[in-house]
Amino acid sequence: MNRLLVIVGSVRPVRTGLPIARWVGALAEEAGWEVDLADLAELALPFMDEPNHPRLRDYQHAHTIAWSERVDVADAIVLVTPEYNHSFSPALKNALDYLSQEWWRKPVGVVSYGGVSAGTRGVTALTPVLVALGLVKTGANVEIPFAGALVADGVFTPTEKETAIAGHLLAELAELAPVLRPLQNR
Ligand SMILES: Cc1cc2nc3c(=O)[nH]c(=O)nc-3n(C[C@H](O)[C@H](O)[C@H](O)COP(=O)(O)O)c2cc1C
Repeated sequence: MNRLLVIVGSVRPVRTGLPIARWVGALAEEAGWEVDLADLAELALPFMDEPNHPRLRDYQHAHTIAWSERVDVADAIVLVTPEYNHSFSPALKNALDYLSQEWWRKPVGVVSYGGVSAGTRGVTALTPVLVALGLVKTGANVEIPFAGALVADGVFTPTEKETAIAGHLLAELAELAPVLRPLQNR
């Protein structure tokens, strides 16, 4: 079974991101993925504090080694990110910066949300970071405008469009995972 790492980019105490990530995770489980939901608030990585460049994989801190092992075993990744000031979440950038080889040639899909722009300006800022890390992004992007209005009692209720696009995104990840596997550093 393919392992999917769903990363929750928002770390605020009350978040739209967590219910959205749970929704994507449940869809993925229905589609046959084994899902690991990585909540960056729970993970609580400090600002990147490794003395060596991550490409050397010579980690000094237990939090980095644990994060490295978690990303390493993933066959595909979904990033769930809000848009903050026309960019993506800083906690997500920090979590990405911690590692290097672990991301290389992993397939990745992005679920963005925010106001009227549905987090798309954040995805524009995120894309060159994904390229720099060697991640391979799906063509399908789930873009959720005014996402807060779709969350009640901690549950995200998607529109039909969002569910359909999430299905396309997961299908692309399933297609890419075996093709990219031989190119990865694990
Ligand atoms: C610091 C901050 C900056 C924001 N900047 C934008 C923005 O530039 N564009 C936008 O559409 N929404 C913006 N928003 C709205 C958020 O994208 C929206 O509230 C989202 O649901 C927050 O996600 P979260 O609850 O998971 O943290 C901003 C929110 C915050 C807290």
